[in-house]
Amino acid sequence: MKITDSVVFVTGGASGLGAAVVRRCVASGAKGVVIFDVSADKASALADELGGTVLATSGDITDSAQITAAIDAAKATFGRIDVLVGCAGIPWAERTVSRDGAAATLMPFAKLIGVNLVGMFDAASQCAAAMSVNEPREDGERGVIIMTASIAAFDGQVGQVAYSASKGGIVGMTLPMARDLGPVGIRVVTVAPGLVDTPIYDFAPPELKEGLAKQPVFPRRLGTPAEFAHLVEHIVENPYLNGEVIRIDGALRMPPK
Ligand SMILES: NC(=O)c1ccc[n+]([C@@H]2O[C@H](COP(=O)([O-])OP(=O)(O)OC[C@H]3O[C@@H](n4cnc5c(N)ncnc54)[C@H](O)[C@@H]3O)[C@@H](O)[C@H]2O)c1
Repeated sequence: MKITDSVVFVTGGASGLGAAVVRRCVASGAKGVVIFDVSADKASALADELGGTVLATSGDITDSAQITAAIDAAKATFGRIDVLVGCAGIPWAERTVSRDGAAATLMPFAKLIGVNLVGMFDAASQCAAAMSVNEPREDGERGVIIMTASIAAFDGQVGQVAYSASKGGIVGMTLPMARDLGPVGIRVVTVAPGLVDTPIYDFAPPELKEGLAKQPVFPRRLGTPAEFAHLVEHIVENPYLNGEVIRIDGALRMPPK
């Protein structure tokens, strides 16, 4: 499927990786790009900057009805959805047992699973239902779902147990979802980024970011959101990629801490 003339729905599309995907889709001539993000102001600002082919919708990915409303708005504006790129996500760091011996608080763990995993599944399921009525394209393709995991799904560090669980869940969903949706012509691919320079690290002091940037094998720097978006475009356009998880990480394998 070509990005040109496709309608792309991007969760978390107001910032970082998602915003880079929105920009790339517009530059590649997408028929429409829908930003679904809990940050209404940032979503509107990006849509205003990029012009009429971008629709900003605001909503929380943990609220099923808000996803439905955004999909309805996408269909009303552009007629259909061809591609979902799921980038909405949040980080959290907490050890299983704290240094002073206290068990982890359960709420952040449950919240991370709710946003990063259950929200991703809900958006994928609802977008797939919308895609399933599309006219099939070449090879019978009706849609593409791209989910964003993390290399923390494989190399989770100290304090990343909740985040790794949420991203490992996305890795685990990839093949069975591709098997569920193959009969209707929808491909499912997950991207597992390493360390990419986005506002997700806004909390980090400069020296921490500098330290992280030295960790990849080559190139020895943080990834850029544009490199992620480049891979997303390739996945959309390569019809034989399906049911796979692709790392984009400069050969980084995270140490325990
Ligand atoms: N940046 C990295 O190094 C990196 C590495 C691996 C994986 N990831 C994953 O990539 C995805 C994008 O991260 P990013 O670095 O672009 O971060 P980011 O903070 O720049 O963007 C995340 C976006 O998701 C939105 N969002 C958060 N919670 C939401 C919710 N409940 N409902 C709807 N939207 C919500 C935010 O408003 C934000 O616009 C995340 O899932 C993250 O876990 C990032």
